[in-house]
Amino acid sequence: MSRASLIVTIDGPSGSGKSTISRLLAHRLKAAYLDTGAMYRAVGLAAQRQGVDLDDQEAVGGLIEALDLALSPGEDDTRVLLNGEDVSLAIRTPEMGMMASRVSAIGAVRQRLTRLQRELAKNQAVVAEGRDTGTVVFPQAAHKFYLVANPEERARRRTAQLVEKGMRADYQEILSQIVERDHQDSARQLAPLQPAPEAVRIDSSALSIGQVVDLMLATINHP
Ligand code: DC
Repeated sequence: MSRASLIVTIDGPSGSGKSTISRLLAHRLKAAYLDTGAMYRAVGLAAQRQGVDLDDQEAVGGLIEALDLALSPGEDDTRVLLNGEDVSLAIRTPEMGMMASRVSAIGAVRQRLTRLQRELAKNQAVVAEGRDTGTVVFPQAAHKFYLVANPEERARRRTAQLVEKGMRADYQEILSQIVERDHQDSARQLAPLQPAPEAVRIDSSALSIGQVVDLMLATINHP
């Protein structure tokens, strides 16, 4: 297999450690890191700013058609440019997580972003993370992982992440948002959160980030 066609997918619920782990794994594999959640968050932000009614298919179609979205690797997050404006920090709030989850249930949004994600993986090796990267976006991926952790541990990690960024964070609120988002992402009709049958499932609740990355590298090197 050529380097350019190497695709690793990491799916799982929010707060399971996907972002940190995907970024580290990409670094170790000298591959690009593709944060598909950041794209859904950017669409959520655009919809909120423009006051788009998410039940109005035409309005959502217009939003998606006019969307100017660019991603580039940042220091410790993906840098996201929406119509030329750096929205990297603005998309990281729990509120934008909920908005992203809502817009991600819309077919036109998924089609456009899935196309964009495939384009980004065309000429380079990638580690892609999200909810449907192994099932829908890259069914041909060489290596697929499904990362889980219990909701309490995920809420604890999310709270710490936000505090580190200097943002407001309330553990109980984050825990209930995580539970609600899990349900929303798993119960939707289009590309629901679920493991690809061949995905290797890893529970990160009691593992360190380094342990998960090492486990993944071992699996990739000795499938
Ligand atoms: O990974 P995240 O928390 O940044 O993702 C935000 C939301 O975007 C998530 O709740 C569901 C949606 N999403 C999706 O539907 N498909 C993806 N591949 C990635 C994210």
